[in-house]
Amino acid sequence: MEFQERSIAEDYEHIVQNRRPLIIDCDTGTDDAIMLIAAAGCGVFDIRAVTSAVGNVSQENTSKNNLDIAEYLGWDVPVARGAYKTMYAGKRTLSTVHGATGLGDVTIPGAKRMQFEEERAPEVIYRIAKEEEGNLELLVTGPMTNIAIALLLYPDLKDLIKRITFMGGAMEGGNVVPHAEFNIWFDPVAANIVFTSGIPLLMIGLDVTERASLIDDDRKKFMSFNTRAGDLAANLLAFMLKREDNGLESAYMHDGLALAACADPLCVTTKKAHIRVEVLNDALSGKTYVELDPKDESKVNAQVAVDLYFHRFRVWLHEAVARIRNDVQVAAKYDLR
Ligand code: BDR
Ligand code: CA
Repeated sequence: MEFQERSIAEDYEHIVQNRRPLIIDCDTGTDDAIMLIAAAGCGVFDIRAVTSAVGNVSQENTSKNNLDIAEYLGWDVPVARGAYKTMYAGKRTLSTVHGATGLGDVTIPGAKRMQFEEERAPEVIYRIAKEEEGNLELLVTGPMTNIAIALLLYPDLKDLIKRITFMGGAMEGGNVVPHAEFNIWFDPVAANIVFTSGIPLLMIGLDVTERASLIDDDRKKFMSFNTRAGDLAANLLAFMLKREDNGLESAYMHDGLALAACADPLCVTTKKAHIRVEVLNDALSGKTYVELDPKDESKVNAQVAVDLYFHRFRVWLHEAVARIRNDVQVAAKYDLR
């Protein structure tokens, strides 16, 4: 076979042409925010929209965070608001580990030029899924409310989504309560709709994300890029490290690992599984049950991450954040300098 030489420009064109269409639905959140920075920089995806869920903080705050971050980074991505309330009618409280706004003690200027899409998250998801004709993937790093609403509103949507990668659930234990992980616990009714939809799922649960924590060296690395993206990631991480020093949650890159696993499958190892979530028993609602390698193959509804290659993930994350430069074009377009 003859080796076909391509110029750098042709290579770049090839990469751009082959970017995978992705919508990110998130409840930004400190670790969601670092994930968004990496998503903007990683170059793997054609990010068709960022949509916001209620979870870590209110929907108003997660939406504002998404819009502010996009404008701050000079990232030209549609940002849409999602549902204000969960589908689950039981008692739930917002997270306490991301500060009042969701971004800890980090402040960025409020967006002035960018505006929210007129459509809400479920409409955006459905419209883009149709446009992408079966190639659209979703990355969900918050409660699954928006996706579940979209699946109920548009019954043909399930056949239009190639895969959903989500941060949520656990094979063992939990974080917000001993039996459940926050995203799934917050809206188990929505999770149940997604888990039983038949859409291929990749689950990145606490079993692996709680082994993906960053340290002060990572903060210094982000700072060394000398970019606003690097500084923002560093400041968010600094807040998370202070939080850890105060005996609260460590600087887990829950959502960053889900993005990385979606972009680079070698960051994690996975097994086929049947997953389900407890909805009916209030005392255990939000608990995920994971049966790995079920004997009955027809039960398989997910790939579940069972291990991670931490070093690979960490380097991947650094590189993704490093790739967003305050280059002249971006600066000129958004008047950043
Ligand atoms: C998940 O909950 C949130 O606090 C994080 O952003 C992450 O998505 C971890 O349980
Ligand atoms: Ca999140």
